[in-house]
Amino acid sequence: MPRSVLISPSILSADFTRLGDQLREAEQAGADWFHLDVMDGHFVPNLTMGPFIVEACRRATRLPLDVHLMIEAPERLLRSFADAGASWLTVHQETCPHLHRTLETIRELGMKAGTSLNPSTPPGTLAEVVASLDLILIMTVDPGFSGGKYIPLLDKIRAVRAWREQGHTTARIAVDGGISPKTAPEVVQAGADVLIAASAVFQHPEGIRAGLASLRASVQHIPA
Ligand code: DX5
Ligand code: ZN
Repeated sequence: MPRSVLISPSILSADFTRLGDQLREAEQAGADWFHLDVMDGHFVPNLTMGPFIVEACRRATRLPLDVHLMIEAPERLLRSFADAGASWLTVHQETCPHLHRTLETIRELGMKAGTSLNPSTPPGTLAEVVASLDLILIMTVDPGFSGGKYIPLLDKIRAVRAWREQGHTTARIAVDGGISPKTAPEVVQAGADVLIAASAVFQHPEGIRAGLASLRASVQHIPA
């Protein structure tokens, strides 16, 4: 079934002094989801937000909230993020010794379940759980910050896409890190259908609307 490419702006590069306005602006400019990067200062060397900010975003937009947990032992906080209004909840493979159980719990809590892979983690680590996945998130930077240098992991995207073509999963395939109008065409060509982007949207010199428009235009001609 053909699907469209979705854009999920990451609020990590937004202006937090006026977060509600920035969300509304991006929503009006055609964002599909919002991506919220939760970091704990342990799994990644940065500290960002928790359920409190997710709940504030929930009140500012009706779009799905795509919450990316870059935290150790994420199973402790799944319910808190469900209560805060997360729609999609993504854990890192590297943080989950009981990944299948964690994904089942996310679904039982009423959210869509995602798993993210660091650049150095092979896609085969998800082979046994693909049926429990609604989203596979391929990191194209080492996680922790926005504005990082893009790592082309096209074979990894193709490998995951092949699972979907072969009917092993229906999961959306997201890429996260260094996604811009320059890098987006090749990741979509390789099989991604969710583009996560912080700086290309919220730091675009001509504003959020221009950032979203140029990202979308860069992939419009490529079938998802
Ligand atoms: C990085 C985060 C990304 C980040 C992307 O650890 O997971 O979502 O915000 O930022 P850009 O698009 O600027 O690379
Ligand atoms: Zn992210």
